[in-house]
Amino acid sequence: MEFDTNAVHVGLSRVEGQGVGLAIQQTATFEFDSLENAADVFQGRVEGLQYSRVQNPTTEALEVRLTALENAAGCVVTATGQAATLLALINLCKAGDHIVATSSLFGGSLGLLRNVLPNFGITSSVVPNDATQIQTAIQTNTRLVLLETIGNPAGDIPDFAAISAVCKTAGIALVVDNTWGAVGYLCRPLELGADVVVHSLTKWAAGHGSVLGGAVLARKGFISSSATLSEPDASGTSWNARLGEMAFITRARFIGLHQMGMTLAPASAWQINLGLETVAVRLQKECSNAADLAAWLETHPGVVWVNHSSRASHEHHDLAKKYLRHHPAVLTFGVKGGQAGASAFISSLRLVRHAANLGDTRTMVVHPWTTTHGRLPEAGKRAAGVAPETIRVSVGLEDVQDLQTDFGQALEAALQSALVSQ
Ligand SMILES: Cc1ncc(COP(=O)(O)O)c(C=O)c1O
Repeated sequence: MEFDTNAVHVGLSRVEGQGVGLAIQQTATFEFDSLENAADVFQGRVEGLQYSRVQNPTTEALEVRLTALENAAGCVVTATGQAATLLALINLCKAGDHIVATSSLFGGSLGLLRNVLPNFGITSSVVPNDATQIQTAIQTNTRLVLLETIGNPAGDIPDFAAISAVCKTAGIALVVDNTWGAVGYLCRPLELGADVVVHSLTKWAAGHGSVLGGAVLARKGFISSSATLSEPDASGTSWNARLGEMAFITRARFIGLHQMGMTLAPASAWQINLGLETVAVRLQKECSNAADLAAWLETHPGVVWVNHSSRASHEHHDLAKKYLRHHPAVLTFGVKGGQAGASAFISSLRLVRHAANLGDTRTMVVHPWTTTHGRLPEAGKRAAGVAPETIRVSVGLEDVQDLQTDFGQALEAALQSALVSQ
């Protein structure tokens, strides 16, 4: 079935007299008939529900739907996107291992690499989004390359064919944060050579800015060469030997949910599942609004540059056309007057919201230099495509004329404030 059909049908039961929509199993735990049955489930001899930290029918329905949308082998959902990224990385790396990541990653992912993983003996190199530079950074202890379908907020697009070939030759995994790929609607990295994708479901998947969630998915046929999966554990055999292509996902569920409690709540899973039903129609409008807004911003005297792959001048215009269904629903632009101009622009907005989220129904702006990337050193911010004048816009479902009117009056106010301060 096609994406739009799977988005509304997969994961629902079809039983006479029962609800058509998904039910919320709002429970922490599940009943057993006998001591023997409980023992079988707890010791993994029989599949069954034991406790909602590990498994719950509502979160499972979401996992089944996401697996279909991304055309994956399997899925584990988590409490946040940040938890999903961490889980994917530690499922493939142990102390002494190394990660190559691209500099245009979301600031929170760069934070994990800088502030968390080194404490557990996992190091990383951060390089530009380029196959040759990635290849050069790979060491004998490198286990994976981490990049994003569309850099946040740089808007750069990876050359999936070239980078996945580099990973394949090196025998390491390609992990892609596909949050901007909208759960497979704009892009399906698992069909472009990625081994694992992660998501912040908080964004376009849920789509209304009302809930947090994350997901980790693995490619069909993915057998990792990482020691965590390929070497024997306490049982005497490896996860790969026991589970084949389901090893990565099953171990992710075990360490992430069972052992570390990164679990998504059933009520959140229900809300995200509902959001998935409209992801395709939302993205069509949001992406078309973003392209219209980018074209209009380019003509405004208060704007010094516009960064959106719909523009023919964009560095990755051709890669975007090759790999994405539409150009993304996010753009960045530079306001005349640097940070002061950006500040005047943001405080003059009347309709558009000033908040750090993506994929909401409402258009939102943020100043990455002082917020999402505020903790990075200046060189790191610039490498991530962030400058003092940068405004990131996550474009919503409004009428694009109303957006232009609001942006126009706020840009005029920013220009006026620059004249006053001269
Ligand atoms: C690309 C990307 N990945 C991951 C995350 C983290 O997601 P969450 O906020 O759900 O933890 C974000 C959050 O902004 C993001 O933009």
